Amino acid sequence: MPETTATAAAPTSDADPFAPEHLADPDPLHQHLRDTGPVVHLTRYNVHALARHQEVHAALVDWGTFQSGAGVGLANFRHEKPWRPPSLLLEADPPHHDAPRRVLREILTPLALRRLRETWQTVADELVETVLAEQGTEFDAFTALATAFPLRVFPDAVGLGPYGRENLLPYGNMAFNAFGPRNDLVQADAHRVAELSAWVNDQCVREALSEDGFGARIWAAADRGDLTPAQAPLVVRSLLTAGVDTTVHGLAAALYAFATHPGQWQRLRERPELARVAFDEAVRWQSPVQTFFRTATKDVDIAGTRIPEGGKILMFLGAANRDPRRWSDPDRFDLARDPSGHVGFGMGIHQCVGQHVARLEAECLLTALARRVAHLELAGPPRRHLNNTLRSWVQLPIRIRTA
Ligand code: HEM
Repeated sequence: MPETTATAAAPTSDADPFAPEHLADPDPLHQHLRDTGPVVHLTRYNVHALARHQEVHAALVDWGTFQSGAGVGLANFRHEKPWRPPSLLLEADPPHHDAPRRVLREILTPLALRRLRETWQTVADELVETVLAEQGTEFDAFTALATAFPLRVFPDAVGLGPYGRENLLPYGNMAFNAFGPRNDLVQADAHRVAELSAWVNDQCVREALSEDGFGARIWAAADRGDLTPAQAPLVVRSLLTAGVDTTVHGLAAALYAFATHPGQWQRLRERPELARVAFDEAVRWQSPVQTFFRTATKDVDIAGTRIPEGGKILMFLGAANRDPRRWSDPDRFDLARDPSGHVGFGMGIHQCVGQHVARLEAECLLTALARRVAHLELAGPPRRHLNNTLRSWVQLPIRIRTA
């Protein structure tokens, strides 16, 4: 257990944010935590929780005080062995974080991604045509669109071979569960850790990757001396861990948002150039990545609460993204809003390095749909998938009317 102790100033809560009822419907707990105080001591895990936008944002940008190198999950790497070699980006602090970050940032800038846009738009247009032709006006948008599209374009962009791609989503699911406590969700996948990890590690070596993808560019950076040859496969692994499930559930969030806000869909159809901001608003509204932890590098006061050196801090990105102290009418999905400043992609030096990839995927898919679909609505209750970190789905039944 982390060595955090509650101070008199910190209100406490015995809620378990990783319990099924809170994972299925996090909003009531988020409101409770925000209203309880700027810092809340979670007695069950002996960690301090931040759920208001101001404090979450402040912790994200202060990497010197709130480190990632001791793990961004509940496990404290100072005392506990990580389940796999730590990420060179997500679970690293400067100066170790600098080189891998610089390499990935350059490979994933909007300019560098420009060459993918045309192909991805064509794939999205074709996918929408096929779904409409084969499945008609009622289908599961989670499987047919939110899962199908990223799985068609992203592994190709990385340069993966054709075999075993069905392992990508289960591996991500496992990795994102591992940031939480060792609860039933973690136990359920325990028997697959070795098999899935071995497959992913095999995909990260130079020989497994095509010559023109993100993976090859990472290896080229190693050839130039920007990374060591030992770092290169771990940086490729970051793309495979962080780049699939996040986007699938982010796209599902956007489709769910439009299926439940028909007026906003009309607005997008009238102004398709809003697709990009619409996706960011969906990321704010649903926060596909709900939580990450940090570890205090020294005794630190947050809003009058003393957090001791080595204590774990749980940041509720999803709660911050709906904090009424920061957003007006925060529970509303609204294309008229400026969602910039949301923390759904994080903030500061660890802010999502793949966000332009996610945005490009969303732009292509939403644009393709807006061309062909005049109206969409839920055709039945959506079904959530439970994950310790991701706000995720198994089914999103929708009914559409074509344009
Ligand atoms: C970091 C969310 C898509 C790769 C992050 C962080 C968040 C996030 C919240 C910050 C972690 C922290 O502060 O500790 C998301 C969401 C996505 C998405 C919501 C989709 C909707 C992607 C994609 C890729 C990717 C498509 C790869 C192409 C990464 C990597 C990091 C990261 C490598 C670590 C960066 C660092 O520590 O410097 N992401 N992400 N993400 N993301 Fe994403």
